[in-house]
Amino acid sequence: MEAREELRVGFVGAGRMAQGLAQGVVRAGRAPPPPHGLSRGTACLAPEVADLGCRTTHCNSEVLQHCTLVFLTTKPHLLPEVLQQIAPAVTRDHIIVSVAAGVTLQTLQQVSQFRPQSYCPRFSVLRVVPNLPCVVQEGAVVFARGSCAGEQEATLLKSLLSACGLCEETPESYMDIHTGLSGSGVAYVSALALAQQGAVKMGMPSALANKIAAQTLLVSLDFALCLQIPPLNPVLPPPSAPNAPFF
Ligand SMILES: NC(=O)c1ccc[n+]([C@@H]2O[C@H](COP(=O)([O-])OP(=O)(O)OC[C@H]3O[C@@H](n4cnc5c(N)ncnc54)[C@H](OP(=O)(O)O)[C@@H]3O)[C@@H](O)[C@H]2O)c1
Repeated sequence: MEAREELRVGFVGAGRMAQGLAQGVVRAGRAPPPPHGLSRGTACLAPEVADLGCRTTHCNSEVLQHCTLVFLTTKPHLLPEVLQQIAPAVTRDHIIVSVAAGVTLQTLQQVSQFRPQSYCPRFSVLRVVPNLPCVVQEGAVVFARGSCAGEQEATLLKSLLSACGLCEETPESYMDIHTGLSGSGVAYVSALALAQQGAVKMGMPSALANKIAAQTLLVSLDFALCLQIPPLNPVLPPPSAPNAPFF
C-alpha cells in the first residue's frame, strides 16, 4: 500500500453517495488535495463534483490508473459490468471499496476472474454499507474486510469514512441488519412527521404540534445516546387509549 501522503481516492460512479463521501473526505482533509478521480456513466458530471476540485472522467479505468483507494459507487446491478471493465487495471496496490447494497465480498473478490493474465495479484477488497445521511456527512457506516484486506487498510478506510459520520467495522453478516436499522431508520424517524400531521388534523395548532414533535425527537435522541434506554421500553399507552395520531 502507498504511503498515506500519496493516497489518491477515487470513485467509480459519481452519483449522490459518491459526492457525499467525496465531500466528507476532501473537506475533512482526510486525503491530500486533488487530483482525486470520479467517473460517471452517461450523464454530465454534476457541478458539485467539479466544485470539490476533483479530477473527473467518463472512463472508469482511468480512475484506477490515478487512484489507489477506489470506491465503487454505481448502482448494484451495474457492478458486474463495472468489475469487468476495471479488472485489467487493478493492481496489488489497489484498495477496492464497494458501497453497492447487497453485493457480497465473495462477489467482489471475483473481480480477479476478469483479469486476462492467469496470475492474479492480491489486492484488498472491502465492503461498506452507508446510509443516506452520509450525503451530508452525518451518516452511520459499517464496513467489512475481504480476505486480502488487513489492519492497515481497515484503519485507513475507517479514518476516511469517519469524515462522513459514525463508522464501525463489523462482520459482513451484520450488513443487512445495518441496512434495516440505519437505512430504513431514517424513514422510521421521518414517520414522526406523519404523527405531527395527524395531530394537526385532530385540531392541534400546527406550530404547537411542530414544537412537540421536535421536542419528542430531541429527547428520544438523548434517551438513545446518553441514557442508553431502549426506545421501545417506555410505558405504552393502555389499549383503551386512542391510537391517534397514527391513523
Ligand atoms: N443513496 C443511499 O442512501 C445509499 C445507501 C446505501 C448504499 N447505497 C449504495 O450506493 C451506491 C450508489 O447509490 P447512489 O444513491 O449514489 O446512486 P446514484 O446517485 O444513481 O449514482 C450512481 C452513479 O453511477 C453512475 N454510473 C452509471 N453507470 C455507470 C458506469 N457503467 N460506470 C460508472 N458510473 C456509472 C451514474 O451515472 P449516470 O447518472 O450518468 O448513469 C450515477 O452517477 C449504490 O450501489 C447503492 O446501493 C446508497
